[in-house]
Amino acid sequence: MTAPRPLIAGNWKMNGLAASLDEARAVAAAIDERPPGARVAICPPATLISRLAEAIGGTGVEIGGQDCRAEQAGAFTGDVAAEMLADAGATLVILGHSERRAGYGETDALVAAKAGAAHRAGLEPIVCVGETLAEREAGRTLEIVTGQVRGSLPEILAGKAFSVAYEPVWAIGTGLTPTLEQIEEVHVAIRAVLVEMFAEHGKGVAILYGGSVKPSNASEILKLKDVGGALVGGASLKAADFLGIIEAA
Ligand code: 13P
Repeated sequence: MTAPRPLIAGNWKMNGLAASLDEARAVAAAIDERPPGARVAICPPATLISRLAEAIGGTGVEIGGQDCRAEQAGAFTGDVAAEMLADAGATLVILGHSERRAGYGETDALVAAKAGAAHRAGLEPIVCVGETLAEREAGRTLEIVTGQVRGSLPEILAGKAFSVAYEPVWAIGTGLTPTLEQIEEVHVAIRAVLVEMFAEHGKGVAILYGGSVKPSNASEILKLKDVGGALVGGASLKAADFLGIIEAA
């Protein structure tokens, strides 16, 4: 089985002003000095993508958006097209984050359309899935997560670079994490669906874990079967914490 380099992606969410570029510069400087085993990406707010590209373009740190609209252009006030993210210097884009699924009613079908748009623009999508606490307590985790994977990945991604991020909604920003057994169980189930959908290609797609990843728990999580990286929120905002996670990969 082909095992790609793990991907450690920082999701800054709606955090970051120009001054935050220094944190990204510190990450870039550290990984250029000591190249890590993992791919590293920072996904800042859209307002910072082009400035981040100027600040750290050409270093080992890749840049991603946090969402895009499915359409290429048009009368969609306030929205950002995948082509605009690429034009600003992004090479990746997070899609279907639970904060968007919950806050904006994003469905699997919409996330799949956005993933198609990302592909159209040459961006590598990171497609997020994850159950709520109520769904976990009802014993529906695997059903919910595998359903989201099936519904959110368009066929056009066959053979293309993309990753899936498993982010249990109840573990995001809470300091809570599933047990290692629970993480592995979901990742193995996602892998099975990816292989069903994409055959050989599905075996190598990185499945990231996200939800309260920090330097102290990254190493044990990243060692688990079918965990191919991490999507990091709060701990990606400070270079020292983010580097601690990168070093664990
Ligand atoms: P935290 O790492 O802050 O829990 O956020 C996870 C997340 O939502 C990354 O997309």
